[in-house]
Amino acid sequence: MVSTELAEVRATALAAVEAAEDLAALEAVRVVWLGKKGKISRLMQRMGRLSADERPAFGRAVNELKGEVSGALATRRTALKRAEGAARLAAERIDVTLPGRPPRLGSLHPLTQTRREIESIFQRMGFAVERGPEVESDYYNFEALNLPPDHPARDMQDTFYVGPGRVLRTHTSSVQGRVMARREPPIQIIAPGRVYRRDSDNTHSPMFHQIEGLLVDREVSFGDLKGVLQSFINQIFGRPLPLRFRPSYFPFTEPSAEMDVECVMCGGSGCRVCGHTGWLEILGCGMVDPNVFDLAGYDTSRVSGFAFGLGIERIAMLKHAIPDLRLFFENDVRFLEQF
Ligand code: FA5
Ligand code: MG
Repeated sequence: MVSTELAEVRATALAAVEAAEDLAALEAVRVVWLGKKGKISRLMQRMGRLSADERPAFGRAVNELKGEVSGALATRRTALKRAEGAARLAAERIDVTLPGRPPRLGSLHPLTQTRREIESIFQRMGFAVERGPEVESDYYNFEALNLPPDHPARDMQDTFYVGPGRVLRTHTSSVQGRVMARREPPIQIIAPGRVYRRDSDNTHSPMFHQIEGLLVDREVSFGDLKGVLQSFINQIFGRPLPLRFRPSYFPFTEPSAEMDVECVMCGGSGCRVCGHTGWLEILGCGMVDPNVFDLAGYDTSRVSGFAFGLGIERIAMLKHAIPDLRLFFENDVRFLEQF
């Protein structure tokens, strides 16, 4: 009777071991059969109810059963572990013959590209690159440029004041005085950089970029200025474009002009971009005012010069037909990736 029961327990336990499909299920089976309160352990409790001569045989049989079930558990555990390992290897298999993923390359910001292009055009014409500070003294931003305190032309550029006598430079013209203060003519420089004004709409930004040009030598004429600028325009737009100079006013140049190029969008026939005039304003320029040379300590009877200042955003917008200047500063990759 006892042996039939043990045989049944044995068969059920071994079947359960075989049926366990993963290590967690197998552990559950172990607890059910061999755990402290498991079915096989509980068989031992029956010993007390058996007669003295039945006990040794029963004890031995139960121990054998225990051994057999733990042996089956161990075998099954090894098999399941091996299967799980093999499955993981298959899932995580790496095909080392696949081509690698190349890192994505970034690109230069369109304004940086345009600035470098402008710089190299002027460098080829003999201009050296100079730089000046963005936080500038009132003196170099205004006074050295023939803009004394309370001069009404200071209102042409709404200024950010950062302290007594300190401004965020409103134009790169501030570099003119710095260069002339430490050097004697001849001078032939460009000065790129950030400038700041209280200005904001789709063609004006509170921070933007300019490139200043300054050439000082003997007998420099407005014709020299025109020649340099025509050559620059031909190179930056990749073809000769008609130019025109409109009389204008800057306190630091005399005569002063604003230079227009034929509208690159409509070819001069008139469109929305050029306000139906056929022309686009590109820069301000003129012959250096003798007062500026006086302030720099130059002998105005011996030297003359020209200066110009252009907006880098303006050039970049025209080159790439970009309608809104704010796109340059929003850092939207969908925009930036096009350059
Ligand atoms: C000046 O800043 C003069 N310093 C230029 C100059 C230099 C004249 C040397 C004579 C001799 P203006 O304020 O016009 O001038 O600015 C020059 C160019 O900067 C403009 O033609 C325009 O292209 C650009 N610009 C001006 N304001 C802004 C702005 N808020 N945002 C973007 N670009 C601007
Ligand atoms: Mg202007």
